[in-house]
Amino acid sequence: MLDINNFTWILAAVIVFFTFLKWYVARNDDYWKKKGIPYLPRMSLLTMHRMLKREGTAPFIKSLCNSNLGRVYGGFEGADPIVIVTEPDLLRDILVKDFHIFPNRRMMETGDTVADSALNNLTGEQWKRIRTIITPAFTSKRMRVMGSIINDCSKTVLEMCEKRSEEGKPVDCKGLFGAFTMDVIANSAFGTQIDSQNDPNNEFVTRVRRVFEGFNFTTMLLAFALPVWIWKFLPSSFHPLKFDRDDFFRDVTRNVIKKRKETGRRYNDFLQILMDAADETRHAEHLDLAEDETDRFGSIVNDGLSPSLKYKKLSETELLAQCVLFFLVGYETTATMITFTAYSLAVNPDCQEKLIKEIDEAFQKHGEMSHDAVREMKVLDAVISETLRMHPPLGSLERTAVEKYELRNTGIVVEKGMRVGIPTYGIHYDPEFFEDPETFNPER
Ligand code: HEM
Repeated sequence: MLDINNFTWILAAVIVFFTFLKWYVARNDDYWKKKGIPYLPRMSLLTMHRMLKREGTAPFIKSLCNSNLGRVYGGFEGADPIVIVTEPDLLRDILVKDFHIFPNRRMMETGDTVADSALNNLTGEQWKRIRTIITPAFTSKRMRVMGSIINDCSKTVLEMCEKRSEEGKPVDCKGLFGAFTMDVIANSAFGTQIDSQNDPNNEFVTRVRRVFEGFNFTTMLLAFALPVWIWKFLPSSFHPLKFDRDDFFRDVTRNVIKKRKETGRRYNDFLQILMDAADETRHAEHLDLAEDETDRFGSIVNDGLSPSLKYKKLSETELLAQCVLFFLVGYETTATMITFTAYSLAVNPDCQEKLIKEIDEAFQKHGEMSHDAVREMKVLDAVISETLRMHPPLGSLERTAVEKYELRNTGIVVEKGMRVGIPTYGIHYDPEFFEDPETFNPER
């Protein structure tokens, strides 16, 4: 039995704990006020949870821009002060000109070595090193090779649509385009044919879907709010950001590598690039390739890297990490984008007609769809850009400052270690930048 004395002690301890917690969370609440900078007050987790549940993430991000606070203002993420920026010139400074001050996103350590070695989780020199290694995967030369794979996979999409149309049945666009995307990634990046379009229960698709279905506000909160040292005590499979839950994608990659090594056959794909970077004898060749490819996607070069990092070959863990990342991030973003493009064209038949005309002309000129044909297609480019404006698969960006930084003449200082939040989804719907933002208008 709990006697009155013990009960009093427990009650006192609980009160002290919650008082401390309340103070701890609110300790920076006057940070921006003291500096005289306009700011969005800290939102309690409960309020944020309710708002996100009621309205969804996109309207929440949009609301960050609807404030009357100007284009740069303070905010909070939990107890941490952050700076929110929606001014294009400042964003160019942060993301391009002064990138060396803002090279990092947030650290999201999971305790799982593969998940923690993926490009999206790396910072500083390690990020630059891995980014330089994978960059040659995106050159025009390799995109041209991918053209025939994409054409083959898209035949199944057409057959499916024709069949459903003859039967008078609707098409599950996200399912169809998701399977198409997975086929293209597996085939073009890993030389693996999976034909998920004809197999709705395909393991690749169901697993990757499960990853994104299980990713919600509560899991995000757990991942971001709990300190890294707590996660270190828990099995890494508990961590919401350990996307490859039961190691399916890393096992698939290991098997493909094993087969390639057994047959000795070389491929012209992403996995081969990584295998070369991990191979003692081919590593130097890979470095030359990274430096030679002048039409590289982005302008990341490894010049500034210390020699010990520049000449360090890729480890097996690092190789697997980039492969798992490609399977996962390539799938959801691309499938969502194609689905919204189809939707936008369906509800805007005029745009659809213009695009069909351009596609017919491209077929006449090039005989088939190819990287070069697509590069010339201005209507297609405009349609996809407008779709990504209205329905971006990722609604915000962020950067962390590695040095104290003054945002031009705004009087706002981003302290070392402070995050800058960039609510891209909100910026896309700002009438000052995009007139009549709710209208789908590829000609804008
Ligand atoms: C329409 C399709 C896509 C969209 C809208 C999209 C969007 C994005 C965004 C917003 C970022 C964050 C950039 C930043 O923080 O500066 C990102 C990063 C990344 N994306 Fe995508 N993405 C798409 C397709 C893909 C595909 C197909 C792949 C690979 C197969 C991919 C691989 C990556 C990787 C590896 C990163 C991290 C880059 C780095 O840290 O340097 N994405 N993507």
